[in-house]
Amino acid sequence: MNKDNWSIQDSKDLYGIERWGAGYFGISDTGDALVQAPTSKGTKKVSLGKIVSGLQDRGLEMPVMLRLENLVDDRITQLNQSFQNAIDLLGYKNSYRGVFPIKVNQQSHVVDEIARYGERFSHGLEAGSKAELLIALATLRNKDSFIVCNGYKDAEFIDLGIQALRLGFKCFFVIETPSELAIILERSAYWGIEPLIGLRLKLSTQVEGHWSGDSGDRSLFGLNSTQMVELLDQLQQAGKLNCLQLLHFHLGSQIPNIRNIRDGVKEACRFYIELIKEGANLQYFDLGGGLAIDYDGTNSSAGHSRNYSIEEYCTDIVEAVQDSLDAHDIPHPCLISESGRATVAPMSVLLFNILEVSSFDPKPASKPDENRCDPIKYLWETLEKTNSKHLLEFYNDAFYYRDQVRELFKHGQINLRERAEGENLHLSILKKVASLVGELKHTSPELDKLNDDLADIYYGNFSVFQSLPDAWAIQQVFPVMPIHRLNEQPSRSATIADLTCDCDGKLDKFVGPFGETNTLALHPLKNNEEYYLGAFLVGAYQETLGDLHNLFGDTNVASVRVDEDGELHFVHELAGDSIADVLSYVEYQPRDLAQQFRQSAEQAVREGQITVTERQQMLGLFNESLQGYTYFER
Ligand SMILES: Cc1ncc(COP(=O)(O)O)c(C=O)c1O
Repeated sequence: MNKDNWSIQDSKDLYGIERWGAGYFGISDTGDALVQAPTSKGTKKVSLGKIVSGLQDRGLEMPVMLRLENLVDDRITQLNQSFQNAIDLLGYKNSYRGVFPIKVNQQSHVVDEIARYGERFSHGLEAGSKAELLIALATLRNKDSFIVCNGYKDAEFIDLGIQALRLGFKCFFVIETPSELAIILERSAYWGIEPLIGLRLKLSTQVEGHWSGDSGDRSLFGLNSTQMVELLDQLQQAGKLNCLQLLHFHLGSQIPNIRNIRDGVKEACRFYIELIKEGANLQYFDLGGGLAIDYDGTNSSAGHSRNYSIEEYCTDIVEAVQDSLDAHDIPHPCLISESGRATVAPMSVLLFNILEVSSFDPKPASKPDENRCDPIKYLWETLEKTNSKHLLEFYNDAFYYRDQVRELFKHGQINLRERAEGENLHLSILKKVASLVGELKHTSPELDKLNDDLADIYYGNFSVFQSLPDAWAIQQVFPVMPIHRLNEQPSRSATIADLTCDCDGKLDKFVGPFGETNTLALHPLKNNEEYYLGAFLVGAYQETLGDLHNLFGDTNVASVRVDEDGELHFVHELAGDSIADVLSYVEYQPRDLAQQFRQSAEQAVREGQITVTERQQMLGLFNESLQGYTYFER
């Protein structure tokens, strides 16, 4: 589709930035993607292009994981304020405390930002391992913040948590499996400290979306009703029923449908009531994670979206707990949520440049010579005849004759140039068919996907496996779009390949104007001008789960903050892995490698293959490369 006057609104609609951007991203009148940063003096806009030039001035090459501090601050504020508003509105008689699950983004600067911006709300941390608990112990400043310990816990884990209790933090040990209680009781007796015990429920409520396995009878963690009764009896016998203060459940991450959340809370409340009746001293109701991100901007119950707002999420939870417990005259518990994705996903944008484009455009075709084989001549005739009336037939003929050309080549009956001529005619027919598909009232699956099959491949300077692993592992859709030239109509249709030369190292699911698409509209590259894209909403899980496929390491990272006067500050930068770094991760010693290479070069000098000067040049290059960035450097 070619439009005469391409407008900024057209770009907004095409890429859906107003639908998934949650107000944090926009497009300027000059066609640049903007960060719309919330500050104490309102929203301040900064173009991503300006940030990219600031990164270049500081020597940070693409790809860069950009973190926008204002957005973390705003997400923590929104979550806490929305719960507080719901509590005030409904007259709920207790408070809300958030804890950030460290596993969602363990990078020290991120956890530090969360602790800093969360301090005024006593926002705490959730730890799922000893390493994460050490981070929590060292990072949290506000003693009113909670620490929730989930996951398998050994004696050392419990000992560490007890130190948090001794320091004055409320540190809960959530029992995920029956065997944990004995260790908790033994270690707390040793230290002479009363533990704060939580119990993780296995709910029968099933949720929609990718992480439905976190709930239901077969979920890996949590106690079923029989195990719960046994636990109560053990606590009773040990005289520690008063230590059971927290009820926890986690229905799964990215829950798209609010009804599932309400149902889960209601079911958990039934357990809360029964446990109180059994004499437990419950005071905290921890509903885990699950608050979803609208990645595809459809505001629906589809897996990559959510059909509710943060406000609705908070109101529904407060209301469901209040209604359930009021009916039994049970005091309202302190509400805890472990929102990870919703807290950090919006803050990070992966910025990368495009290195090259491979297109499937045919060369101009001309009538074949008389001496050409029949299939080539038939391909030409098909091309001449192709019209919108019998499109599928022309499409099928194109493949039929192309295959015949390939057979002839295989048997040595035509040469390379003839094969190329046949394949170019085949592609010319497909292009013509694709251009006519829009005229049909009824198409077929083959014709429907023809435009996708002919899409360009844009080669991006990044690794899917390192920076967007969920796009590969679970077909997660992230919004991707150019960050400039948005006042120009993007005339190409493309998929994006990464640097890993792996057929899975690609992006071919995008946010389209009317839902998910297999291709993304992009601009043709201009000579001597970089073309930059951003992958948005990538702050949750991606950096943590990324791996070293093809030895592409951590990208450069930069954190920026926009102040209340709209000034941009580069507050933190971290150089990505060098080649020496990634080699050492897979147990090479860069010094040994350099030594081995020196010996090979010396051998070559001895054998007269290279001069001593050339040897020095080679060694210099080798050592310089060890210090270089693992990604494509201009
Ligand atoms: C126990 C627990 N709490 C919290 C979370 C974070 O969930 P989300 O990122 O959906 O907020 C998870 C992640 O799945 C989890 O397993």
